[in-house]
Amino acid sequence: MIVDLKNARVLVVGASGGIGSATADAFEAAGARVERPGHNALDITDDASVEAFFAARGPFDHVVVAAARTRTGSVGTLAVADAQASMNSKFFGAYRVARAARINDGGSLTLVSGFLSRRPSASSVLQGAINAGLEALVRGLALERAPVRVNAVSPGLIDTPLHAGMTEADRQAMFDRVAAHVPARRVGKAEDVAHAILFVSTNPFVTGSTVTVDGGGTIAA
Ligand SMILES: NC(=O)c1ccc[n+]([C@@H]2O[C@H](COP(=O)([O-])OP(=O)(O)OC[C@H]3O[C@@H](n4cnc5c(N)ncnc54)[C@H](OP(=O)(O)O)[C@@H]3O)[C@@H](O)[C@H]2O)c1
Repeated sequence: MIVDLKNARVLVVGASGGIGSATADAFEAAGARVERPGHNALDITDDASVEAFFAARGPFDHVVVAAARTRTGSVGTLAVADAQASMNSKFFGAYRVARAARINDGGSLTLVSGFLSRRPSASSVLQGAINAGLEALVRGLALERAPVRVNAVSPGLIDTPLHAGMTEADRQAMFDRVAAHVPARRVGKAEDVAHAILFVSTNPFVTGSTVTVDGGGTIAA
């Protein structure tokens, strides 16, 4: 039986972002009570902030980590300090939440990784490594935290504010290029990813899994 979300206590970390916001909305539409802490209430790069946030709260039924800030660049050009800061945000941010969050038995923790874990890009090698780390983390955590279920959802290119730093022309050119290349023939929407996050959160037989939502980007020639 699908886990009922009516009145479930849900935390979405990164709910001001594209994927996090769509996920929080989808949980609410299913009847859940959703907490959407801002950056200042829960900073995933700060041990004390994460620990204080969870210490002040009771257990959640479902926790989603859709927060991260990473720098893109080839291994040869990205400064080691920037690479470490990216790892500290996306990998250790999720790690800190996984470590501190109290989650009820039968509940779930879902991390957001990314398809570069399996489809590397020469200009985003670090992102692929971080995502692969997260996907390995959920497989281990699913054992450690059982009967809490732990999964990852791995998006391809999704139209979110993550890409707002590019010029409109560059962003559109990237979206057009990817849409022409992937079997789904479009880029993803945040709601596509939110749908998968609700699936892994509510299916009681899914744990230790990574669900890919990439329009077929991983298998595209
Ligand atoms: N969009 C894509 O194409 C794509 C593809 C593959 C994987 N992903 C992954 O999906 C996840 C969500 O991406 P998105 O596209 O939704 O990104 P987004 O729109 O840029 O949102 C990022 C979110 O992370 C939050 N955040 C950043 N640093 C934080 C910190 N130190 N503490 C707490 N919150 C922090 C931001 O909050 P503020 O607004 O307060 O900074 C924002 O809510 C990320 O892990 C990203 O790598 C995205």
